[in-house]
Amino acid sequence: MGWNSWNFFAGKVTDKDIRDTADLLVSTGMRDAGYVYVNIDDTWEGKRDEQGRIQSNEKFPDMKALADYVHSKGLKLGIYSSPGPKTCAGFEGSLGHEEQDAQTYAGWGVDYLKYDMCSFIGAVMNVQAPGDTAKQFDIMHAAYEKMHQAILKTGRPMVYSFCEYGWDSVWDWGPGAGANLWRTTGDISANFDRMSSIGRAQAGLAKFVGPGHWNDPDMLEVGNGRLNHDENVTHMTLWAMLAAPLIAGNNLTKMTPEIGAILMNKDVLAIDQDPLGKQGDRVFAEGPVEIWAKPLKDGSKAVAIFNFGESATQMRGIALHLKEMGFGGSAKAHDVWAAKDLGTIKDDWKTTIPRHAVVLLVMKR
Ligand code: GLA
Repeated sequence: MGWNSWNFFAGKVTDKDIRDTADLLVSTGMRDAGYVYVNIDDTWEGKRDEQGRIQSNEKFPDMKALADYVHSKGLKLGIYSSPGPKTCAGFEGSLGHEEQDAQTYAGWGVDYLKYDMCSFIGAVMNVQAPGDTAKQFDIMHAAYEKMHQAILKTGRPMVYSFCEYGWDSVWDWGPGAGANLWRTTGDISANFDRMSSIGRAQAGLAKFVGPGHWNDPDMLEVGNGRLNHDENVTHMTLWAMLAAPLIAGNNLTKMTPEIGAILMNKDVLAIDQDPLGKQGDRVFAEGPVEIWAKPLKDGSKAVAIFNFGESATQMRGIALHLKEMGFGGSAKAHDVWAAKDLGTIKDDWKTTIPRHAVVLLVMKR
């Protein structure tokens, strides 16, 4: 869990934004809720010096000092690069400097690297193996493994985050190449259709994750753009059901109490972070209504009933599908967002779910 600069600040992020964010992660309680990584995304990179060492640009006058500041707050620092010659925003990438860059990051005190394919596709894969997809994928695997080895060689523990948009079923080979998390799709944006289609696209990927290696449906947009309350709650719930890395992406200097309460709901975070480390999966779908279930360590299950549709849905014909979730005819239910026990409910449990909203239950026998 942490925060990343891209979704809100994008190319404008500065040293001051990172320091302000670090301060606010502490004062808002987010750090203590678990959001400990402060990740600088693209556009921090400057030129290389005569020895080829990467420098930060004028927006980040002193990376070591910034890392020290972040660490002094009980937080960790993340950084970003690309295996290609350029990053997605056109800044300096790590191609040909992998070991040197890993050493530089370690020297600064970096704890996390997001490695984003970007120009590697056009500048390396397409050039070295034009038209040969299988060979291109081998080249991609090797590039991610190369940086993995470079990180290991520094001796400094770093979370290694793959950003190659899910290419070549990254969940299959990513963990073997050192990935702690891997993006499974293209970029999220702060709108309901994009966010929900990315979340729903994780169906079927549950078996590839466990403690230390996770599917990454991209960073949170909670509190960004035009997501309304129900949409923010749906976003947070879906990511928790997916045991997804929770990397907030909002502007903490403007965070409302409502958004803070969504990001820091203890019971929802406990579902995401449950030590069993199982990703939830879809149990049932009928049009816009989907039921997802996630097994939890204590033997109970988180059950989310989503309405991705454009109008309120009454659960009339739609049963809860308790059997498919491994329950008998009935189960004890707790409504997480409402913080309310519902007693024992059965398959024919009825509720109305507004447009773009969700009911999140924890159920036990
Ligand atoms: C890609 C990534 C994003 C972000 C930008 C930065 O689009 O997928 O998450 O890192 O690059 O340029």
